[in-house]
Amino acid sequence: MNVFKCEVCGNTISFVDNKGPKIVCCDKEMEELPIKTEDEGQEKHVPVLSVEGNKVNVKVGSVEHPMEDEHYIQLIQLVQNDKVIFEKRLSPGEKPEAEFLVENTENLKAREVCNVHGYWSN
Ligand SMILES: [Fe+2]
Repeated sequence: MNVFKCEVCGNTISFVDNKGPKIVCCDKEMEELPIKTEDEGQEKHVPVLSVEGNKVNVKVGSVEHPMEDEHYIQLIQLVQNDKVIFEKRLSPGEKPEAEFLVENTENLKAREVCNVHGYWSN
């Protein structure tokens, strides 16, 4: 469930299954984005997760993240027991949030990818 980014062209990929061989884009090995968990500065990226019954809402972040053409949240993932169980792809102009229906609300976390600031988890 790693996310990789090409530092040359900005291509960003999310794995369904990662078997290990290196991933190449623009003739260079793609970088695995580290997962950040603590906000720094004014912009807030750490996803905020709330659960009501079997409905899970994820917002990015504690202050709504911009959704402009040059800077926006591209992906929100819902993770359970360290496995991505749902994801939502976003576009500029949309709200930086997602809602998911789950059978079991144990051990949930949320992650998101900002096109400028990388990969974040709560
Ligand atoms: Fe950002």
